[in-house]
Amino acid sequence: MRKTVIAGNWKMNMTPAKTAEFIKALAPMVAGKDKCDVVLCVPAIDIPAAVEAAKGTNIKIGAENVHFKASGAFTGEISAEMLTEAGVEYVVIGHSERRQYFAETDQTVNLRTLAALNAGLKAIVCVGETLEQRELGYTETLLKFQTKMALTNVSAEQLKNVIVAYEPVWAIGTGVTATADQADEGNGFVRAAIAEVYGADVAETVTVQYGGSMNDKNAAELLAKENVDGGLIGGASLVAEKFKAIVDAAQ
Ligand code: 13P
Repeated sequence: MRKTVIAGNWKMNMTPAKTAEFIKALAPMVAGKDKCDVVLCVPAIDIPAAVEAAKGTNIKIGAENVHFKASGAFTGEISAEMLTEAGVEYVVIGHSERRQYFAETDQTVNLRTLAALNAGLKAIVCVGETLEQRELGYTETLLKFQTKMALTNVSAEQLKNVIVAYEPVWAIGTGVTATADQADEGNGFVRAAIAEVYGADVAETVTVQYGGSMNDKNAAELLAKENVDGGLIGGASLVAEKFKAIVDAAQ
């Protein structure tokens, strides 16, 4: 039985004050929804406000990135220990926006994943193809490669703290959602890659999310698919009622 995880990725939105307000409003809406884990991944500056506001609720807090070194001369970066001490439980790694705008590579995604897992964080590792790669017929090859690269040197034990999010780049923030079948297929490629390394039994236990224009309208159809074990939600996670509706769909 795989755990369903509904996670918001706020990206560069919300101030600390708005964070506290949002979580106070959301908490009663998702209280007692125990069929899925409810996570909000927030900008680093919002973490203290988020952790404080989420105390005593079933909302868990995540970060949007983590550095792979424990400490040192890395101006502007945040370590895994800093996150855990602040009360963070999850961290998004390798989002396509980090890959596209901040020179993230499959190798640094792997290093960040290892750093997060070694610190006891749960890693939400993002993979996904561009439209060009899809049209060239490379979706399966690419998803399997990205998944295996990200998980290099991750033990089967550590894999219990890994969630993989399949996020087709062409579906992110575009309003173009993958069809439920495309999402199921992409998530299936991710699971097949995990099976090739860790075995089919292990792969069956790993939560694989879909992300890319998931919203209150399409969540139920996407989440009904065999391989879709939750969502990583951008835009719709910034509106409490929409995010609540996605959590409801996961029930
Ligand atoms: P949207 O839901 O805004 O398309 O963003 C998806 C995403 O990138 C989540 O990480």
